[in-house]
Amino acid sequence: MGKAGLAELQALDRESHLHPFTQHSDLHAQGTRVIVRGDGCWLWEATGRKLLDGLAGLWCVNVGYNRPEIIEAVHRQMGQLPYYCSFFNSTNEPAIRLAHRLSTLAPGRLRHAFFSGSGSEANETALKLIRGWNKLRGKPGKNKVLSRTFSYHGVTLATASLTGLPSVSSPFDLPLPGFLHAPGPHPYDAGTALSPEDYGKWCLEETARLIEREGADTIAALFVEPVQGAGGVIVPPPGYLRSLRALCRQNEILFVADEVITGFGRLGSTFGSTLWELDPDLMTLAKGITSGYLPLGATLVSDEIAGDLIGGGYLAHGFTYSGHPTCAAAALANLDILEKDKLVERVRDDIGPYFQTKLNEFRGHPAVGEVRGHGLIGALDLVPRGGKAALKPDLALGAKAAQLARDEGVIVRGIRNLIALSPPFIITKPEVDHLFDAVRASLAKLT
Ligand SMILES: Cc1ncc(COP(=O)(O)O)c(C=O)c1O
Repeated sequence: MGKAGLAELQALDRESHLHPFTQHSDLHAQGTRVIVRGDGCWLWEATGRKLLDGLAGLWCVNVGYNRPEIIEAVHRQMGQLPYYCSFFNSTNEPAIRLAHRLSTLAPGRLRHAFFSGSGSEANETALKLIRGWNKLRGKPGKNKVLSRTFSYHGVTLATASLTGLPSVSSPFDLPLPGFLHAPGPHPYDAGTALSPEDYGKWCLEETARLIEREGADTIAALFVEPVQGAGGVIVPPPGYLRSLRALCRQNEILFVADEVITGFGRLGSTFGSTLWELDPDLMTLAKGITSGYLPLGATLVSDEIAGDLIGGGYLAHGFTYSGHPTCAAAALANLDILEKDKLVERVRDDIGPYFQTKLNEFRGHPAVGEVRGHGLIGALDLVPRGGKAALKPDLALGAKAAQLARDEGVIVRGIRNLIALSPPFIITKPEVDHLFDAVRASLAKLT
């Protein structure tokens, strides 16, 4: 695209486009970056500049850009039946096949899927199904919901209330009443002298105290990302998640695994719930279900809850795009690729360990206060020249480092004072080297 074409797009964008999670004054001053093409792990800007995508879009393009299998499946489905709903005792073949495929992939008792259009809608659906279920079984007062600090569960009124990040909730005077936050296991941020394991135990004790204070009979569910992603790539300390799961069981609180980022292989296991044997009562999925090619969310529900909902009369919930045939066709083709190319195994046995080795080479780097990661997700928590003690509010080292990395030709995500990485599963070792070489060069400039 020529300079004039790009300038025109930037002017139109400035005039009429509100962007998500964006400081519009900065955006307008810089001019929007227009991405025009993707292939493999690479993106091209309208300027012709080529960038290595170290974040897989937004933690989602797991099979990489420009996969003909998905493009052709979508094209075929579009030609046959681009859309039909799943209302009116109807549905379509891809939605049926996807629901069934998920029931065979998912752990344990999760054999029913409710489809939606995003991760937020998947979590919103989980909240509503749980609320409706408790009402059906005569427990309408069991309606508070727990989640954890540093969690990210979405942006609707209810899911932003679940999200444990004040930057997401407070501009909108959220959380709504009845949404409670237990401490997330993030010892680095807490600045504690406790070991990660002991801090995890303290978080569990705090969660137990919160449950006792509120009354277990008033709490419906706990929402948990196996690895907290957008909150800063917080990897659970050993034993913590299983104890948290047991705590829920003891108190008859449903355990909802939000696997919107971790689902479909990013941790080197199809689900984090399988990896850590969480046996969730519900699971929410989006992003990697289609590798981001088309919008799709899914809420998986245990046999017991599904049975009650099916027997409970009219289920008054659903979206125009629940079970969208073209999105479901994209998901099926995406799942075929994961299977055929053994990409989850690749993350577990090959590229994930390589990525973690390269990530961990940053331990002891003067600009790095902590390294966290698992499988093909990682974060570097950054510090200024004086070390962690010199951190000040609003330093925003993450955004600065992400900008410097972009100048070096790679995309990473800046969050508070950290950068997060979650590349496509098809990334090669030389591409991983390139990603971390660029990060290293950008950190040299940061300090
Ligand atoms: C764990 C998790 N849950 C839910 C969501 C919300 O998904 P969406 O942006 O598709 O609404 C996200 C998005 O990043 C997420 O990371």
